[in-house]
Amino acid sequence: MHSLLLLTHSVFRYFALIFLILFVFRSFMGWINKTPYNSLDDKLGLWLFMVIHTQLVLGLILFFVSPNVVFSGASMKDATARYWLVEHSSMMLISIVLITVARLTVKKVADAAAKYKKLFIYNGIALLLIVVAIMQSGRGFVSLPSY
Ligand code: HEM
Repeated sequence: MHSLLLLTHSVFRYFALIFLILFVFRSFMGWINKTPYNSLDDKLGLWLFMVIHTQLVLGLILFFVSPNVVFSGASMKDATARYWLVEHSSMMLISIVLITVARLTVKKVADAAAKYKKLFIYNGIALLLIVVAIMQSGRGFVSLPSY
């Protein structure tokens, strides 16, 4: 069960990154070019929202079944154990909150440029956090679990 969950979580990272990079890029272009907010961006945001919440569910299950997450004070003294116990989950949770808050609050913003600006800032910070977290994992930025 752990292997399958980890493989799915690992593969979904690519979907999350592709949607997030596209969305951040399109939000930036929409903001500087002052283009009207369009349905493609809304769909892209929805796909990102679904993928990122799938990652959340898979990550939460992994957190409790993974042999790499060790609930012990000693984990704080070991860089790898601390990463999987505290750092990965907290950085990823912050990014998921940023993406979620951006999508939910931007609906109330009427001006398209202001909408794109907010989406760019929130999702841009989330993207940075996710990239840093994956780089810190020590598993390689582009990799799959080897079984
Ligand atoms: C944006 C969301 C997330 C992304 C992009 C992401 C990405 C990743 C990646 C790339 C790995 C390494 C996979 C591999 O070894 O091939 C991983 C592992 C893991 N993730 Fe996430 N993650 C996310 C959210 C979360 C959350 C929210 C949690 C927990 C609350 C979590 C818990 C874990 C755990 C426990 C592992 C290690 C499992 C193991 O090695 O046994 N992840 N994640």
